[in-house]
Amino acid sequence: MAMDELDRTDPDDVEELAPLEDEVPEAASEDEHHLLSFPALRTLARSYERSPAPYALIDDSLRFVYRNPRFRALLAIYEYESHDSLLATFARSLTPETAGELRAALGNGERGFLWKGHLSHRAKDAPAHLTKMHIQPLWLSEEMRPRPEAYAVYLDDVTEENVRHLRGMFSSLLEASKMKDNDTGRHIERVNLYASRLARELYHDPRWPEVDVDFIEDIGFLAAMHDVGKIGTPDDILNKKGPLSEFEWGIMKEHTKNGAFILSSYPNPMAKEIALSHHERWNGSGYPYNWMGPMIPLAARITTLADVYDALRMRRSYKPAYPHQSAVAKIREDRGIHFDPELVDVFLKIEEDLALIFAENADEFGQ
Ligand SMILES: [Fe+2]
Ligand SMILES: [Fe+2]
Repeated sequence: MAMDELDRTDPDDVEELAPLEDEVPEAASEDEHHLLSFPALRTLARSYERSPAPYALIDDSLRFVYRNPRFRALLAIYEYESHDSLLATFARSLTPETAGELRAALGNGERGFLWKGHLSHRAKDAPAHLTKMHIQPLWLSEEMRPRPEAYAVYLDDVTEENVRHLRGMFSSLLEASKMKDNDTGRHIERVNLYASRLARELYHDPRWPEVDVDFIEDIGFLAAMHDVGKIGTPDDILNKKGPLSEFEWGIMKEHTKNGAFILSSYPNPMAKEIALSHHERWNGSGYPYNWMGPMIPLAARITTLADVYDALRMRRSYKPAYPHQSAVAKIREDRGIHFDPELVDVFLKIEEDLALIFAENADEFGQ
């Protein structure tokens, strides 16, 4: 039977569609909504049943009529409480204003009885998920009613697209800053890897409940951006061979605030925190604000450790390259002074992995 034939079938004539009962078991048994007696709706439910994308059907009071397996899976992964109502289900991801807008749009014929907007889903053990929710009207009866009897809800996964655009844009900025400060070789790649490795170690430790899957996913890329503010530092200060004067130091230190300013539009505040605070020290002797201890955001404390370990291992005009063990000894010495003592303990636990990252990502022309 063709789809248009199904649509023309008398809604009361459900006998003819009996085999569908088997094919849409969850919708029929769990939701048991009267609207499912409409053949058009049952046809839609049947086609959504096998879709790898989350689909649902709702009635005119925005209560679920049907949710496909992918939609149910998404609710389970992100631990949404089970509700009949779409708005109550997504209460955590929709501001009251957005929920109001949605409700108004779906009742507004001039706006086509449709709505689309973004929903972001979060959980400790699953990567954040950004979806675009499309809600479209469905007219079920023969006669055209003033309002649609039901709506189709489709969640379009735009996470990757969004991350790709965002990171593409900020990577270009990073490349621009590297053109000014180009003697650091693969330093930023290694800082990315050390920071990710340290964060992975914290993930399983209850002392750091804020370290979730997204934290690990984001910290590498954002730790690599720590010095992006140097784009605003004058070249003669940035590339000066000898020691900096006090005045020049003052300007140099501004790269932290400049970085925070540049990254302020990045949606994850971690970007700004790292740029601003990667030169703060645990004992309050760092810059720009002399913050101390846990006042310094965790992501910045991790980046500091990663950044300093790598700086120690590199040969610079003012210092030789430290062998791994000397760098480790220096970091141990500065436990609770420059660095978060608990993070130093984690660092010491995985120091061999960090040495390996350094070796595998060495600069081509020596350190
Ligand atoms: Fe810096
Ligand atoms: Fe650095």
